[in-house]
Amino acid sequence: MQHSQAIVYHRHGDPLEVLELVDRPMPEPGTGAVRIKLLAACVHPSDFGKVAGSYGRLEHLPAVAGREALGEVEAIGAGVTGVALGTRVRFPEAGAWQEYACCQAAALELVPEGIAIANAAQSFINPPTAYCLLEKLMDLPKGAWVLQNAGNSAVGLCIIQLAKELGYRTISEVRRESLEAPLKALGADKVVFSGSGWHRQIEEITAGAPLALALNSVGGESALDQLRALSAGGTQVTFGGMVRQPVRFPTRELIFKDLRLRGFWWDSWVRENGPNASREIVGRIHQWMREGRLQLALDQAYPMDQYKEAISRAAAPRLGKVLLAPDPKRLAEEA
Ligand SMILES: NC(=O)c1ccc[n+]([C@@H]2O[C@H](COP(=O)([O-])OP(=O)(O)OC[C@H]3O[C@@H](n4cnc5c(N)ncnc54)[C@H](OP(=O)(O)O)[C@@H]3O)[C@@H](O)[C@H]2O)c1
Repeated sequence: MQHSQAIVYHRHGDPLEVLELVDRPMPEPGTGAVRIKLLAACVHPSDFGKVAGSYGRLEHLPAVAGREALGEVEAIGAGVTGVALGTRVRFPEAGAWQEYACCQAAALELVPEGIAIANAAQSFINPPTAYCLLEKLMDLPKGAWVLQNAGNSAVGLCIIQLAKELGYRTISEVRRESLEAPLKALGADKVVFSGSGWHRQIEEITAGAPLALALNSVGGESALDQLRALSAGGTQVTFGGMVRQPVRFPTRELIFKDLRLRGFWWDSWVRENGPNASREIVGRIHQWMREGRLQLALDQAYPMDQYKEAISRAAAPRLGKVLLAPDPKRLAEEA
């Protein structure tokens, strides 16, 4: 009997301690459903938050880890029409770190042809988040400067490329000088280095133009530097907390510059705006990817049984996503 490997957890905790690889019976698609075979799944900071029990939305336990992946239709249940075998689709979000899952054909999110597996697997969360951060929270004029930290993160790479497409200029903070050249090659306008005191040169960096939006996924000192760099009336949007400390704020900057602090969560945005609105954004993302205008780097792909290596690698300094893929060679062929 064929099995499906899955990476599961029965309790919340450190992913390296609580996750385990299990063999499950192959799921069979019922009436109106299809079976999807995993091609590649992302290893995201939020996956660890869900496993640890600290994320904003948790699964009932036991659960399969992971939430973002690309799959292909591998078997079709009774009564399903208009879906071809091999069609690439988003893998069901509730448990993306497993080889096979079934879902109703009517709920399939199709992925157009012409997008490499490693790119398509990363297209459903980080790029739409970057798009919303740039387009849905403020009315930025063309040519406006946008500041971000974690410029080499997947969201950061999206912000750099989408800002270029949408007519904004970016200042990206990173922790290593070696990242400047690859980020500039993607279209970054300015790259600055954490802890270098760059915020004191903000007027030089923007040539005196205002800085109205800062995107913070780090927290700590980096978030404080953003507040110091923002112009009067500017907004800082926090959407991640990689240093895992509460964001503090400098009282003087808040009072004398009348700054705004707010948050953003893609899951809430989807809930509030509905599936049509989110699919419209993901559709644009796929179009940009097909046209080669949005590329998301791959660091390394690991087979399912090397999930511990994948998790350790995800915590290391890198440029590009760590993916889990039952057949990593297939990704390499499409690179
Ligand atoms: N709110 C939302 O809707 C939403 C949606 C998507 C993502 N996010 C958040 O956005 C952030 C980035 O996600 P991603 O998938 O793009 O991440 P990623 O590709 O895995 O990259 C992680 C980034 O975090 C940086 N980092 C790690 N530890 C750090 C620390 N202690 N101090 C400063 N920087 C640190 C890394 O820099 P180094 O290379 O220097 O280590 C890297 O730039 C995460 O916090 C994620 O949860 C939020």
